[in-house]
Amino acid sequence: MARIAIVTGAAGGIGSKFIEKISVMDDIDEIWAVGRNPEKLEALKTISSRIVPVIMDLSSVSCRVLSDMLKEKKPDVRILVNNAGTGYMGAFDKMSPEQVVQICNINCTAPAAIMSEVLPYMTKGARILNISSASSFQPDPYLAMYSASKVFLKNLSRAVNNELKARGITVTSVCPGWVDTGMLPKEVNGRKINYIGMLKPEKVVSRALKDSAKGKDMSVPGWFAKYFRFYSKITPTGIVMRQWAAIMGKYV
Ligand SMILES: NC(=O)c1ccc[n+]([C@@H]2O[C@H](COP(=O)([O-])OP(=O)(O)OC[C@H]3O[C@@H](n4cnc5c(N)ncnc54)[C@H](OP(=O)(O)O)[C@@H]3O)[C@@H](O)[C@H]2O)c1
Repeated sequence: MARIAIVTGAAGGIGSKFIEKISVMDDIDEIWAVGRNPEKLEALKTISSRIVPVIMDLSSVSCRVLSDMLKEKKPDVRILVNNAGTGYMGAFDKMSPEQVVQICNINCTAPAAIMSEVLPYMTKGARILNISSASSFQPDPYLAMYSASKVFLKNLSRAVNNELKARGITVTSVCPGWVDTGMLPKEVNGRKINYIGMLKPEKVVSRALKDSAKGKDMSVPGWFAKYFRFYSKITPTGIVMRQWAAIMGKYV
């Protein structure tokens, strides 16, 4: 039975670092790289010959392609990384209803559905890493849908981790602050954005894999996300939101 890892958003900034790190693990036979763009997924084969592209647009609610592959190959899934995600900086009332639904589908419905599809193929020692965000620590004005979607993923991960203890399966919610990838605009409306405590994706991925191997249900890399988590716990939410809105509001 093939021992596999599945990574969504595999061609993105954080996803491709997961692919690099997992490709040197000698207990993984295949890495199923999930994404929308066949060329980008093919290009990942330069990292490892064990890459198997899985073309899926996660904004549509169905996981049929993955579900059919699992049924046909019946693999032993050792690692699932729900990494694909999207978000827009800006006011909620300027977003279209389609954008709102798209964020829910990609950031919430897809990872939950993929976990549900994959869990029957996981045994003791298997790991799920769900890429949430430090945005899950408080409601973020001007990132309202994004931060709400990341709370969903964080809480789902931690609760399911608790449930799966008896099966020896770990679910880790990965909550980085700003990460230097294509997701972050360099400027908005001509204003250069200063991302405090920005991390390189490799640091996020190394920390996440170490924390998940230790069985932790949370991985919070870097000083900024750690500080933000603590600050949001001890400060009234109204104050945190006012401060956040004052910083982000000048860019939107
Ligand atoms: N960058 C940050 O500051 C930061 C901070 C905290 C958490 N995160 C989270 O980290 C994860 C990875 O983001 P990143 O920073 O690496 O950004 P990225 O480079 O933009 O990667 C996002 C990935 O998600 C995929 N994706 C987006 N929409 C999709 C869809 N409809 N169907 C399938 N795949 C889709 C993208 O695929 P394509 O290549 O086809 O576009 C891409 O591979 C996300 O969940 C994000 O929310 C990022």
